[in-house]
Amino acid sequence: MTVITEQLEARREEARLGGGQKRIDSQHSKGKLTARERLDVLLDEGSFEEYDMFVAHRAVDFGMDKIKYPGDGVVTGWGTINGRLVYVYAQDFTVLGGSLSETHAAKICKIMDMAMKNGAPVIGLNDSGGARIQEGVASLGGYADVFQKNVLASGVVPQISVIMGPCAGGAVYSPAMTDFIFMVRDTSYMFVTGPDVVKTVTNEIVTAEELGGAKTHTTKSSVADGAYDNDIETLRQMRRLYDFLPLNNREKAPVRPFFDSPDREEASLDTLIPANPNQPYDIKELIVKLADEGDFFEIQKDFAANIVTGFVRMEGQTVGVVANQPLVLAGVLDIASSRKAARFVRFCDAFSIPILTLVDVPGFLPGTSQELGGVIKHGAKLLFAYGEATVPKVTLITRKAYGGAYDVMASKHLRGDVNYAWPTAEIAVMGAKGAVEIIYRQDLADAEKIADHTKNYEARFANPFVAAEKGFVDDVIQPAETRKRLCRAFAVLKGKQLENPWKKHDNLPL
Ligand code: HXC
Repeated sequence: MTVITEQLEARREEARLGGGQKRIDSQHSKGKLTARERLDVLLDEGSFEEYDMFVAHRAVDFGMDKIKYPGDGVVTGWGTINGRLVYVYAQDFTVLGGSLSETHAAKICKIMDMAMKNGAPVIGLNDSGGARIQEGVASLGGYADVFQKNVLASGVVPQISVIMGPCAGGAVYSPAMTDFIFMVRDTSYMFVTGPDVVKTVTNEIVTAEELGGAKTHTTKSSVADGAYDNDIETLRQMRRLYDFLPLNNREKAPVRPFFDSPDREEASLDTLIPANPNQPYDIKELIVKLADEGDFFEIQKDFAANIVTGFVRMEGQTVGVVANQPLVLAGVLDIASSRKAARFVRFCDAFSIPILTLVDVPGFLPGTSQELGGVIKHGAKLLFAYGEATVPKVTLITRKAYGGAYDVMASKHLRGDVNYAWPTAEIAVMGAKGAVEIIYRQDLADAEKIADHTKNYEARFANPFVAAEKGFVDDVIQPAETRKRLCRAFAVLKGKQLENPWKKHDNLPL
């Protein structure tokens, strides 16, 4: 080797060491991988192409002129996941705690610009003490530059944030503007202000885990879309998710090879709906039985479990599923489930992913906590999201479709393309008991009459045929044949073209 190539190799070696072996050991002792090790797991072997390895900060205050690390605390570049291009950045906690300087931010912005120009997603691995304190406002400006890019990239390329260590202060707002956030259990947390500040300002005593750990954000705040046990499991799941997604808003999601016949019959679905209409069943059983090879990637599994959202494939094509879950709160729509599903529907629509809606919903949840919490506005988010979506929309009513929730859940009236019902469907303004108590109030004292009215009401509305007579459902289908019918529906909608009127943007009820 010539001296000059040796020098290059030596400089690369120095950059690869980040903050040095001692800090790498400390990172490992916390059960965390280093930034480069993480990229090795996330990307296809040997595919990573690094940029800006030699970039260093230009700060001089607080002795920073004497502390320089090549790369400045973030590893950036591109690689592939199962052969498909992805831009990545991974913050290196061993370098000044992965803190974000002006140059660190510029590196992230550079790869985001490339991602937008070349039409590929961005995955950010976050592990950082926040704004580089020694740089003051320069690092705040750096954050704002990243935020602005997040906004411009939203709806253009998918953006995924993985929280793999601390994420505090304004640093949480870049992930918050991306499409998905995933966390690592026990080693990651996100908050705007940490436990010490909380104690000073509000006198509350709370741990970092309680305030912003994976459990908090996946079950209570809904900031995060999922959490996994360790770095390796999390990154492997990101590879799995990536395979469902298109590269950008001009392309469709990849069609993967499949080994599951689209004609597969599922006799067990004929008995999925219990004889008693008030008895629950697990809608995930249906989702898994409809999906190619039973593969279902769930989004926000632990939040608002009364609605289920996630990705499956049908005949190799990605489909976003939204399904009421009778097992939880009878599948009712409320503030949390409306927000959760609305965001998912909008992601699918932004990235041309067809939507399958499985309906078994007794209506919106009544009560003061819901009304005072703004269920009107939050419920309207889901209504709005379905109404504006132009991707193929296929809907199946398995059992209840009552009231406003019938309209909301991708009904024919909201431009549902193919709307099916099982013979067990009940499509009505409300359940028989409630309806009879209102329209036959004068007979309330007479149990016999009420029973009679209820029977009549059920006979008229507790079936899918009134809606089918009006063409609000396109067909009443046999449960066992559902996969075949849905695969055919999505296949026939492949060429669908529909555009909303021109506008600068809509005014979603936020
Ligand atoms: C510069 C930082 C840093 C930061 C950590 N380090 N955070 N350097 N700026 N923000 C350095 C430490 O000096 C240390 O350097 C190394 O990173 C590791 O930090 P430790 O504290 O030893 O690690 P640990 O005990 O694991 O604690 C991690 C931590 C803590 C919880 C993240 O470091 C911390 O609280 N940092 C400050 C967090 C913060 O308040 N950031 C500003 C948020 S405000 P050595 O040389 O010893 O290895 C913000 C505003 C953004 O981000 C606004 C945008 C709109």
